[in-house]
Amino acid sequence: MHTHTAVPTPLTIPEIAGRKASAGIGIPLAMITAYDVVSARLADRAGADLLLVGDSLGMVLLGRAHTLSVTMDEMVHHARAVAAAAPRALIVGDLPFLSYHVSRPEAVRNAGRLLSEGGCAAVKLEGGRRCLRTIDRLLAADIPVMGHLGLTPQSLHRLGGFRVQGRQVEAAAGLVDDARALAAAGVFAIVLEGIPAEVAQIITAAVPIPTIGIGAGPHCDGQVLVWHDLLGLTEGHTPKFVRRYAHLGPVIVDALMRFVGDVRTGSFPAAAESYHVPPEVVAAVQDRTIPPPGSSPDEA
Ligand code: KIV
Repeated sequence: MHTHTAVPTPLTIPEIAGRKASAGIGIPLAMITAYDVVSARLADRAGADLLLVGDSLGMVLLGRAHTLSVTMDEMVHHARAVAAAAPRALIVGDLPFLSYHVSRPEAVRNAGRLLSEGGCAAVKLEGGRRCLRTIDRLLAADIPVMGHLGLTPQSLHRLGGFRVQGRQVEAAAGLVDDARALAAAGVFAIVLEGIPAEVAQIITAAVPIPTIGIGAGPHCDGQVLVWHDLLGLTEGHTPKFVRRYAHLGPVIVDALMRFVGDVRTGSFPAAAESYHVPPEVVAAVQDRTIPPPGSSPDEA
């Protein structure tokens, strides 16, 4: 008789592209950012459909004020760790600032690295109609693309800060046009970040592919949150779209303080936490290494 260990079947691009919950096709997509083996293993085990190796790693892991200085090498480095630990979720890697802006061949090479070296199944890039020719080239190279519209953090300086986008009629209509153009170009899903819920609902109804929201209300076909935000590991201002599902920061500090205290009092490690040899081995080692009384190193 054979025993079967359940090996999860990896989710595919066509499966994700077909999950249009707002149109009654499938259940909403859950995406979580992941940056390393631990975050990927736990998010995959929790049943996340997609793991996003976000360039947000520049802020939440590396302490930078924004994402603009994140490099391709950093993205590949983190993507490899995520891919090593997530057997089921579909892994998407962010193309960082300047990796797809300079030339289309460079964009293909950089995006290709996220698949070939990083183990991602797709890449995400920020921007609408201005990115169409780049997206064409990526798709022609068999690199699946996820779009990202609204508050696009790589446009921080042009936008004048991390501000909600699409509040005015022209801007909102522009986002709808961008989303339609991305979908027509062949992206398999679109992240909508920092836009009014009503506008996200119009965009979601306007495209045949899933939208995945962050700060974009409840009408998207899926939702994404940053790992550190949802687990209560970030400090300072919390945007209102973040729901904290745990407060792990204080839990971790408490555990670390107890370790520090145990080291200082000598109660760590205990005998059971140490390796041991039998007493005769101890005696033999001492015989060999402790000089008899009265002898001096010079006499040897
Ligand atoms: O970099 C990131 O984590 C992202 C999400 C916030 C969508 O792009």
